[in-house]
Amino acid sequence: MNFDDVIRTRRSVHQYSDADIDDDTLYDIFEDVRHAPSSFNLQPWEFLVVRGDDLERLQSVAYGQEHVTDAAAAVVVLGTLDPSDHAERVTSDLLEKGYLPNEAAAEARLETVDNLADADGETRRLWTTGSASLAAMTLMHAAWERGVASCPMGGFDAESLHDEFDVPTDYEAVMLVTLGYPEDGAADLERPRKFRRPTDEFLHLDEFDPVARESAPPADD
Ligand SMILES: Cc1cc2nc3c(=O)[nH]c(=O)nc-3n(C[C@H](O)[C@H](O)[C@H](O)COP(=O)(O)O)c2cc1C
Repeated sequence: MNFDDVIRTRRSVHQYSDADIDDDTLYDIFEDVRHAPSSFNLQPWEFLVVRGDDLERLQSVAYGQEHVTDAAAAVVVLGTLDPSDHAERVTSDLLEKGYLPNEAAAEARLETVDNLADADGETRRLWTTGSASLAAMTLMHAAWERGVASCPMGGFDAESLHDEFDVPTDYEAVMLVTLGYPEDGAADLERPRKFRRPTDEFLHLDEFDPVARESAPPADD
């Protein structure tokens, strides 16, 4: 599939076939995820892949959403709340490869990260959610390129998820992503694409002028 096809044919799929996703395919998908961009290149993400009977445990913290157990796997996208987790090796790499001009710049970079690490919880939650969400989007595109459909999910109880899967509190549960080969004729793929706001409405060239609200007609895809 070319890039345009991946973007335009991806759907949030709720109906999956019984086929498993083999470990090699999963691994390949995450090899793509590695290349997602992240704040300061700190890659503050972890992914817990839930499969088999454990999907029922995940469903119980996701308000019973049915597609969780229909899926072959579901990924819990986690973001670290400690920006300094990988800071040393990331910064050494930037210095070695010439992305930072000298040792002083590397020290300054580490100090900035340390300051972020000292920020309040809300700031760090927002910080990690940005990068982890981009990784989640990359995950969905990488999966779909291989014929594996997905559905991103924010509908879960984070506290229960932490308890159920022993996730330490210094990780933010950013999103769930169900994964699976779509069922033959999966309704989500057969139906016309859901409404998308027209580009002219949300694209503001040079000046921010958010005037259009509900008035614009649906854009054809
Ligand atoms: C942050 C976020 C949270 C979402 N949460 C859920 C969810 O809890 N359950 C669900 O079935 N779909 C969820 N979705 C999927 C959206 O409903 C879906 O992306 C949207 O309707 C557009 O459909 P499409 O992805 O097929 O283009 C979520 C999507 C995003 C980006």
